[in-house]
Amino acid sequence: MSDIFSTTGTPYADGKILQHTTDGVGVITFNNPDKRNAMSLEMWEGFGEALTSLRDDETVRVVVLRGAGGKAFVSGADISQFEKTRHNAAASEEYARRSAAQRALLADYPKPTIACIDGFCLGGGMQVAMLADIRIAAHDSQFGIPAAKLGIAYGFDGLRHLVSLVGPSWARLLMYTGMRIDSAEALRIGLIERVFPVDELWGETMTIAETISQNAPLAIKAAKITIAQVLKDESQRDMDAIKAIGNACMDSADFREGRQAFMEKRKPQFQGR
Ligand code: COA
Repeated sequence: MSDIFSTTGTPYADGKILQHTTDGVGVITFNNPDKRNAMSLEMWEGFGEALTSLRDDETVRVVVLRGAGGKAFVSGADISQFEKTRHNAAASEEYARRSAAQRALLADYPKPTIACIDGFCLGGGMQVAMLADIRIAAHDSQFGIPAAKLGIAYGFDGLRHLVSLVGPSWARLLMYTGMRIDSAEALRIGLIERVFPVDELWGETMTIAETISQNAPLAIKAAKITIAQVLKDESQRDMDAIKAIGNACMDSADFREGRQAFMEKRKPQFQGR
């Protein structure tokens, strides 16, 4: 994917997080290739800033996350910071609070998100990938959560997503062993959705992103909201939110445009209202 990193964009965390937009697609790049894109606390916070900026950019309809360097998506949290920032429960709490606040932005993101994975996707990298709506990977990528090899507990949110994607038994196998699996296995167990040869990965990811960005934003929002509610316990579900977005779709100019464009055999132009 090397050619695509020539694009200049807005830097965060001293350039270790990059952000740019292209044709309605926002792109965030984890850019610490010397450390296989391991995430320092500054990078988590820069990631949050980039997410916020793309969330608030009305021209952006979908966000793609990727790693620079061709070797990793994200190899997890930066272990070299652990001695200072995560050496015991008290220190770890502050670290978790600050990094979790950024992941919460992704968990509640109002726009569709895609993780484009080329290489290692480990630990905290898996957390990011699992929080994205869709995961697309290169053939030779590797996935794992080596918490048991480090002696740390992977938190509730990460495991909730893992269990919902691969089921409790695979979650246990991955967590108890800390093993790494390849893209073929990850695809088979439902951890990722699509796999491509590495030289096709970016083009295929952008094709999916552009397809999403050209579809009706309110209809996509309805799907995103409703699927999130499906995953909640019944007692926690906000059925009113589902009703409200359903009504917003039916009353939208885009629904009118969608109907008309179909009848007139032309491509619809959606405005998101
Ligand atoms: N934190 C800090 N530094 C990391 C890192 C991490 N999570 N992952 C990789 N690095 C650093 C390595 O220390 C090495 O630094 P050096 O060049 O100064 O020695 C550099 O990145 C390259 O890593 P290396 O192990 O030589 O590359 P590799 O291609 O052989 O293996 C990994 C890559 C990602 C498989 C391996 O580095 C690894 O297992 N990393 C730790 C993953 C992990 O435990 N993540 C969970 C953290 S909660």
